[in-house]
Amino acid sequence: MSRIVIAEFMDERALPALRAAHDVLYDPRLVDDTPRLLAEAASADALIVRNRTQVRGALLAALTRCKVIGRLGVGLDNIDVPGCEAQGLKVIPATGANALSVAEYVVATAMLLLRGSYQHSGAVADGKWPRPALSNGRETAGKTLGLIGFGSIGQLSAGLARGLGMSVIAHDAVLPASHPAFAAHGVRAVSLDELTATADVISLHVPLLDSTRGLFGAQRIAAMKPGAVLINTARGGIVDERALTDALRSGHLGGAALDVFDAEPLPAAGHFQNCPNLVLTPHIAGVTTEANERVSLMIADEVLQALR
Ligand SMILES: NC(=O)c1ccc[n+]([C@@H]2O[C@H](COP(=O)([O-])OP(=O)(O)OC[C@H]3O[C@@H](n4cnc5c(N)ncnc54)[C@H](O)[C@@H]3O)[C@@H](O)[C@H]2O)c1
Repeated sequence: MSRIVIAEFMDERALPALRAAHDVLYDPRLVDDTPRLLAEAASADALIVRNRTQVRGALLAALTRCKVIGRLGVGLDNIDVPGCEAQGLKVIPATGANALSVAEYVVATAMLLLRGSYQHSGAVADGKWPRPALSNGRETAGKTLGLIGFGSIGQLSAGLARGLGMSVIAHDAVLPASHPAFAAHGVRAVSLDELTATADVISLHVPLLDSTRGLFGAQRIAAMKPGAVLINTARGGIVDERALTDALRSGHLGGAALDVFDAEPLPAAGHFQNCPNLVLTPHIAGVTTEANERVSLMIADEVLQALR
């Protein structure tokens, strides 16, 4: 029997299989109690985390008998993967398990931002009847979606967007334009510059790496088509937040949605106040009832296999 430490929220439906075979500590608040987390890490054969536990430095050093890290999600920027590997620790992400939730968020948000009519309920309820101001929304069909990163989420987003009548173009720094995934989804592979200049909606689906940090800075945002919409569900740090709010306030961009931020949780009274047609969500694009269950069952299964 091994000891499994779960330091963040995991869907309860995945726990019985782990408990049947192993000694399990499930404490979703452990991530916020560093001394206890470090103490529990010392006895862990497996550690399961979401995106808040920083598996590096002191925590990594404390994982002396640990064989596997299960990540309840996809991005690995909270985990020192080379450090884990050097220590013989296997890192297992829940690849693809929450991709559909993110893809649905992308197309729903693209429609909402292009239409621009849904964030005025207060004015309607107050009897202001802002009909003239909300009569210039745009249809989604016929618009071009530009996907940066054409992995699991990019590909699912392409399928949903094409179902709405959008044209889809994509840029992936790793996949060559000849890769069959593009043709299979009816997507044209283009350069980053062409995508930036021509897409009506740009959605980011790349990991946070040195090569993607600051990818959407002031210059690239200025190169976007006037009135275009930017959606970032990938990671904070990829979009320059101040350049984005400047572009919304100046009217260069028609709308934006951010699910991820430089600092999470986002501090109060920051630079996003009173920005037109901006949707902010607290890193939940991939978090739905269905995705929670899929992600947790996948990681439970993979951790059980790794401990065998
Ligand atoms: N907000 C959320 O709730 C949430 C949920 C899941 C994933 N994510 C984020 O979304 C990202 C994408 O997830 P995924 O499952 O599609 O990952 P994935 O690994 O399937 O796809 C990522 C793609 O990005 C490409 N890529 C890497 N560097 C690039 C660059 N510089 N320019 C263009 N393309 C590049 C890769 O070749 C790959 O095809 C994750 O890294 C994660 O950070 C966020």
